[in-house]
Amino acid sequence: MSNPLQVLGGITAEQFLNEYWQKKPLLVRNAMPEIINILEPDDVKELALEETVSARLIKQKDKDPNQWSVKSSPLIKGDFQKLPKLWTLLVQAVDHYSFDLAELWKEFPFIPQWRRDDIMVSYAPKGGSVGKHFDFYDVFLVQGYGHRRWQLGQMCDESTEFVPEQPLKLLPEMDIHFDEVLAPGDLLYVPPGLSHYGVAEDDCLTFSFGFRMPNIATMMDRVSDKFADNSLLKNPLLDVVRDEVAKIGEITSNELAYLKAKVLEQLQHSNDFEHALMSLMSEPKYPDNLPEADEIEADDLLEIIDTGYELRLEPASRLLYTLDDGQLLFWANGEECCISEQFESLLKQLADGESLVFDQSFNDAEILEDIAQLLNESVLMLLPSDEE
Ligand code: SIN
Ligand code: CO
Repeated sequence: MSNPLQVLGGITAEQFLNEYWQKKPLLVRNAMPEIINILEPDDVKELALEETVSARLIKQKDKDPNQWSVKSSPLIKGDFQKLPKLWTLLVQAVDHYSFDLAELWKEFPFIPQWRRDDIMVSYAPKGGSVGKHFDFYDVFLVQGYGHRRWQLGQMCDESTEFVPEQPLKLLPEMDIHFDEVLAPGDLLYVPPGLSHYGVAEDDCLTFSFGFRMPNIATMMDRVSDKFADNSLLKNPLLDVVRDEVAKIGEITSNELAYLKAKVLEQLQHSNDFEHALMSLMSEPKYPDNLPEADEIEADDLLEIIDTGYELRLEPASRLLYTLDDGQLLFWANGEECCISEQFESLLKQLADGESLVFDQSFNDAEILEDIAQLLNESVLMLLPSDEE
């Protein structure tokens, strides 16, 4: 953890996490040269036309660039005919379509996988932008092609007001204190809440490595669903506390406290809580991006051991683990994974983002059964080693 990292401009992950993460922006020149030309503008346009892709086409009127419109996917060829001068195409989860891009998450080993969202790409011609705005999430903006001018302004929050009657949450003003042009390979970290405005200097692609953060309302929702499904908890509670009341309309604070204590007791002493959270955190954001797997059996796998394959995580899947009383528990795509003990340490490596050569270390009947199941569920994938 303490090595200086090129992606952070030579500072260590500790320093970045202490001084910048969720606090202030960081510009790093030539942070990620590997991203240059992985995709070109035409690839992004082509991808945006695919049926399952989540994309948005943002346009500004020629006559009045302050008038914005947004067309969400599915996009069709006709959407790209007769475009105004200023437009931006946003395509979500491009890391699910390009292994080379998905590999670049490894540049951020200091942020756990469960906090990752997806890599979005924006494509705009000269002058194109998505307007002055802020996001509630952390983002690393990495220039992949062409140039983009980024301006940063004031911190914003829930109370910040937006330009009325526009389909995007745009800021009327920005108090600019940063103004730089990013070239291919350059990176700008923008913390949550910081206003930003990126304008294409030429035909440009910007990749947003976005992170997600849980919120209490969603977690509560999941936890309560999990408890509500538990039939044991449907038993009526006896009147352990029965205060004498002077007025029958009253529920005493004692009685309320007892009922609350019963709920809290369940929350504290039941595994349902952890299950609900692990299920939520391991849910894929774009389940439609999970490929349909070709059914495979353990015997088929046995035949291809040592023939030049690699096992790795399917980029659209989420595989997480947690240590519970010394025992590793795995969750994939919202479901608990029950696997054999022998497979645990290998699956842990896969969840940690490693690609593993499919060799004799997998030659075990139970391990092969586990792998077949995870391949059939599109949690894992097998690739010929030279298809890197
Ligand atoms: C963009 O790349 O134009 C938008 C990314 C962002 O502002 O978060
Ligand atoms: Co933004």
